[in-house]
Amino acid sequence: MFSVLFIVCFSININFSDGADSITANQSLSGNQRIVSSGNTFELGFFTPGNSSRYYIGIWYKNVSPRTIVWVANRETPISDMNSAELKILHGNLVLMDKSQVSIWSTNVNSTASSSAVATLGDNGNLVLRDGSESRTSEGFWQSFDNPTDTLLPGGKLAYDKRTKTKQLLTSWKNSEDPAPGLFSLELNPNGSQFIIRWNRTEQYWTSGAWNGRIFSVVPELNYVFHLSYVDNVNETFFTYSLYDPSSLFRSVMDISGQIKQTSWLENTKEWNLMWSQPEQQCEVYAYCGAFGTCNQNSPPFCYCLPGFKHKSETGWNLKDYSGGCARAIDFPQCGNGSTSTGRKDKFLENYHVRLPKNSQSVTVGSARECESVCLSNCSCTAYSYDGKACSVWNGELLNLQQLSEYEGSGRTIYIRLSASDSQFSSTKNGKGVVIGAVVGSVAVVMGLLAFVGVMIWRHQRHIIGTTKAVEAVANLGGDNKSGIGVPFCNWESILAATENFSDVYKLGEGGFGPVYKGMFHGGQEIAVKRLSSCSVQGINEFQNEVLLIAKLQHRNLVRLLGYCIKENEKILLYEYMPNKSLDAFIFDQKLCMLLNWKKRFDIILGIARGVLYLHQDSRLRIIHRDLKTSNILLDEEMNPKISDFGLARIVEGKGTIASTKRVIGTYGYLSPEYAMDGLFSIKSDVFSFGVVVLEIISGKRNVGFHHSTEDLNLLGHVWRLWSGNKALHLVDPILLESFEKSEVIKCINVGLLCVEDNPSDRPTMSNVVLMLSGETGVLPVPNQPAFVMRKRGFSTSSSSSSKPESTSNELTISMPQGR
Ligand SMILES: *[C@@H]1O[C@H](CO)[C@@H](O)[C@H](O)[C@H]1NC(C)=O
Ligand SMILES: *[C@@H]1O[C@H](CO)[C@@H](O)[C@H](O)[C@H]1NC(C)=O
Ligand SMILES: *[C@@H]1O[C@H](CO)[C@@H](O)[C@H](O)[C@H]1NC(C)=O
Ligand SMILES: *[C@@H]1O[C@H](CO)[C@@H](O)[C@H](O)[C@H]1NC(C)=O
Ligand SMILES: *[C@@H]1O[C@H](CO)[C@@H](O)[C@H](O)[C@H]1NC(C)=O
Ligand SMILES: *[C@@H]1O[C@H](CO)[C@@H](O)[C@H](O)[C@H]1NC(C)=O
Ligand SMILES: *[C@@H]1O[C@H](CO)[C@@H](O)[C@H](O)[C@H]1NC(C)=O
Ligand SMILES: *[C@@H]1O[C@H](CO)[C@@H](O)[C@H](O)[C@H]1NC(C)=O
Repeated sequence: MFSVLFIVCFSININFSDGADSITANQSLSGNQRIVSSGNTFELGFFTPGNSSRYYIGIWYKNVSPRTIVWVANRETPISDMNSAELKILHGNLVLMDKSQVSIWSTNVNSTASSSAVATLGDNGNLVLRDGSESRTSEGFWQSFDNPTDTLLPGGKLAYDKRTKTKQLLTSWKNSEDPAPGLFSLELNPNGSQFIIRWNRTEQYWTSGAWNGRIFSVVPELNYVFHLSYVDNVNETFFTYSLYDPSSLFRSVMDISGQIKQTSWLENTKEWNLMWSQPEQQCEVYAYCGAFGTCNQNSPPFCYCLPGFKHKSETGWNLKDYSGGCARAIDFPQCGNGSTSTGRKDKFLENYHVRLPKNSQSVTVGSARECESVCLSNCSCTAYSYDGKACSVWNGELLNLQQLSEYEGSGRTIYIRLSASDSQFSSTKNGKGVVIGAVVGSVAVVMGLLAFVGVMIWRHQRHIIGTTKAVEAVANLGGDNKSGIGVPFCNWESILAATENFSDVYKLGEGGFGPVYKGMFHGGQEIAVKRLSSCSVQGINEFQNEVLLIAKLQHRNLVRLLGYCIKENEKILLYEYMPNKSLDAFIFDQKLCMLLNWKKRFDIILGIARGVLYLHQDSRLRIIHRDLKTSNILLDEEMNPKISDFGLARIVEGKGTIASTKRVIGTYGYLSPEYAMDGLFSIKSDVFSFGVVVLEIISGKRNVGFHHSTEDLNLLGHVWRLWSGNKALHLVDPILLESFEKSEVIKCINVGLLCVEDNPSDRPTMSNVVLMLSGETGVLPVPNQPAFVMRKRGFSTSSSSSSKPESTSNELTISMPQGR
């Protein structure tokens, strides 16, 4: 009897292996069995996340590797053995049973279709439970789209139900191996028709801004890629989105980083491309580093413990869940005030350049010393800060402390309470002065030691580089080297020798940051030598730090930094040498321009876009180039574009992603209006420059110095006039007439015009640009009139009338321009 049952079960189970997309009333799913959606896009079955040994029922993309989970059924109740567990229909519900036939998870609906219910996995990733007699398009009585975990797929929705006053949440996983609900959740707030992200379901730390019928005000760029809809009726309010190109794979995830991330699958490179994430800065995520953790935006993995503290849960930190925060490494402050048995007071450790934690209490006192004693006298006080006027104290755990760099003006100093016996203070004397003395003292000893070691290493390197194999050392060390330093330090004499004392004969050009020479090193090796102008205000240490960071940026569309040198006021950077010089030398030259046909130019545009995207987003430093132009695009032997001079603004002026600056770095003709006029730069100012570069590459004409016999327009104005007159193809450099691809040219001009829009928030981000250029989206947004249209009016920006062309019938324009 038993064996008969077994065979029956077995034979039924076989159904799943031939690609069924449904579970029906007399079937069950177990072990390695799966159901697959009809179009082969999604798959449902048991999985284990990461190295975990616990099993969950999940939905994932069938053809994406590594496995990417979009939905989890039993996220809080894993099972230990998938072979004895079963997913089946029971009394009209989909139920997961463990080996003793106890229900572990259930869809939990009151359905009338007790025996004929069917669960079908759709090709959009939605699992629908419906009566078997209903059509396959019916909404059924339960859907996984109504019960999302951390992922919102196109077509899915996030709703607020007005009748039950409940909202659906997109909730992050706890950590990379545990799908249980974590601390971060995205929800729709019907009051402001906006999205918000909360920490621990309470503390709101991000909003999308209100929906205005077309866009969310804080993140207008969203509708570059999707068709967004926001529905508000008597029963519910919900948001949903669809793709212009339904064939691409796309998902929005409430990530364990506390950010909402949108990624698209790139079939060519087989990877998820991050298009957009919010909040943009990791350190803006509420309590990301937990109690007594400190967040450093410039130094991934971002979270660190304060001095005197250690990771509370090592496993959590390894799985990228920092919410456990830090615990005191030694003992808790004894709350001594000098009269306890040990006779020692608690001490305060000074931390500079921080953004202060949340939830302070202010106290009215007259001096720093009084502020300190207020804190000292209350045992629950853990830190204080005094800014000359106001005294703030913190009780209990410190959340949201952020370590800033010394360039960021908003940094403050906080004093963290530590036990007197903490080894941070080895001194025997009392008082704050001593504390600082002790810290300074021990720091000095460490620094001394480091300096000594540094000098030894330096002397060693200098010896190698200076006397024997300068070139090989530079060239070899430029790659991934094992030494902790990362970029070799080169000696001044070898550079003088390689450039014959910076002889004009060797000069390749003059950039915004100083001249560049071709250095002929030992053995015939050619290296580009950049001599930074001495206007740099940075000290040697900061310079060195920046160089080490910049050298870590490696991408095939970026010029590689190979080494550096400091000698008194001289600062030198060594780059790989590009024999083909820069893009402007080709496209603006009557003869050389013939070497770049349309295909090559399109590849160059795409390469530049990818390089800038890497700088903006994929590299961990978030570099704004600030001087992007055709003469900063170098070409290698195969005419692949490589961006140069990136990170130099940062080396010369300090960091920051949005900032205002006293001195505008950059080149007239490529500067965005907000940067040129107000000194405000952001990644969107690079997008503007990129747009100019694209239009120059297509037209073979410079934006600055552009002349047209009958128009008082610059290049951008000229492009706009052609575009709005549906004659965009007249822009194309006549040399390309035989090689160009109409649809690609139109696409590039469209993207170029979007990039040079007046309002930075109307410009796409570089990830959108890459996506649009690589053809992942079908319909492109219609551009508005660009900034700086009139040639002779200096920086008068475009009118706000935003006249749009009636239609984009540019594709149909076939007439060719009659030469220049
Ligand atoms: C399930 O059971 C019904 C009747 O109970 C039967 O008609 C149907 O063929 C069965 N389906 C499978 C796949 O065995
Ligand atoms: C799984 O464990 C192996 C070995 O312990 C480790 O190298 C790997 O990084 C782990 N994978 C994940 C996803 O944690
Ligand atoms: C299901 O029906 C039972 C009894 O009719 C009722 O008590 C329960 O609240 C219902 N559950 C839901 C989710 O409607
Ligand atoms: C919307 O606002 C009203 C009053 O301001 C408040 O009572 C209600 O709870 C809010 N609703 C939500 C979903 O936050
Ligand atoms: C989240 O909130 C709950 C109460 O709502 C609390 O018990 C829990 O400790 C909080 N979690 C953290 C990490 O603070
Ligand atoms: C609201 O719900 C009621 C009852 O479920 C339904 O009849 C009605 O069509 C719904 N209205 C809308 C606009 O969805
Ligand atoms: C602080 O000192 C006073 C006397 O100076 C003593 O009465 C009090 O108990 C002390 N408080 C603590 C927490 O040790
Ligand atoms: C210490 O501070 C906490 C929080 O402000 C307060 O509730 C408590 O009464 C204070 N204790 C003393 C002894 O002042």
